[in-house]
Amino acid sequence: MIALVVHGGAWDIPDDMADAHRHGVQKALMIGFAVLSDGGSAVDAVEAAITILEDDETFDAGTGSFLNLAGEVELDASIMDGRNLRAGAVASVQNIKNPISLARRIMEESDHILLTGKGALRFAKEHGMKSCRQDDLITEREILRWREWQKKKNMSVQEAFRKKKVPLDTVGAVVLDKAGNIASGTSTGGTPNKFPGRVGDSPIIGAGTYADNSVGGVSSTGWGEALIKVVMAKSVLDFMERNGGNPSKAALEGVNMLERKVQGYGGVIALNMEGEIGMAYNTPRMARGYMTSEMNQPWVAV
Ligand code: GLY
Repeated sequence: MIALVVHGGAWDIPDDMADAHRHGVQKALMIGFAVLSDGGSAVDAVEAAITILEDDETFDAGTGSFLNLAGEVELDASIMDGRNLRAGAVASVQNIKNPISLARRIMEESDHILLTGKGALRFAKEHGMKSCRQDDLITEREILRWREWQKKKNMSVQEAFRKKKVPLDTVGAVVLDKAGNIASGTSTGGTPNKFPGRVGDSPIIGAGTYADNSVGGVSSTGWGEALIKVVMAKSVLDFMERNGGNPSKAALEGVNMLERKVQGYGGVIALNMEGEIGMAYNTPRMARGYMTSEMNQPWVAV
């Protein structure tokens, strides 16, 4: 059994953006699945699928990410290997096109888990990764969105989230490979107009990402400040462990907890060691999809 589940954000995705989300999720599934079919590891497939989503301007990850208050892109990402609980993450990193690859390098080529800002960029350069210009990551759509945010000086961000109108296009993937290993990853540009240096749930192991071969894997999306408070990804995995390994029930329990305890909004994808999939969200839409070795083509929905 091999299985791959992907998300591309949870919010009130407008109708005119739904096809782009569907297309991006489908492409990530096809590429990730091809890696797995060729004998690639779960970590390889997580990196491949998330790289596709980071390079797709539709999503708030890599190119096309939301701009912070200073009009700059700052990226967060994490990856975790369920075989050994090794993990790598970057937070507030600039000038890196694919932060998921940097997170993987930190996991595999350092004794650390999380590097931030300038240190993360230095690590990338010292480990042979190319840097890019800010302009390579900034799209016209996000410049316009940023200008609109500057007019909303008095708007409470919390209120905007509660109205479910803040775009939350974080991406993630959870994979079970042929060898029976699981891995998870998550990547984001964070929230629109965030304060420079703000870090969300995505690079926090346990909040945005978790993988453990004894249970399964999870990736979160949504309002990071709320997701951190309930340690979303690890909580969902703990629910799964306690309910006998049912990822659908665990994902739903996680989202219910998120709303009940911290009035949070977002969603999760979860996978168990049998390749069974769970997906839940409390936003009007979540871009999501999966593919397993028992299917001829991916299932995708927005
Ligand atoms: N969930 C992504 C973020 O809040 O940064």
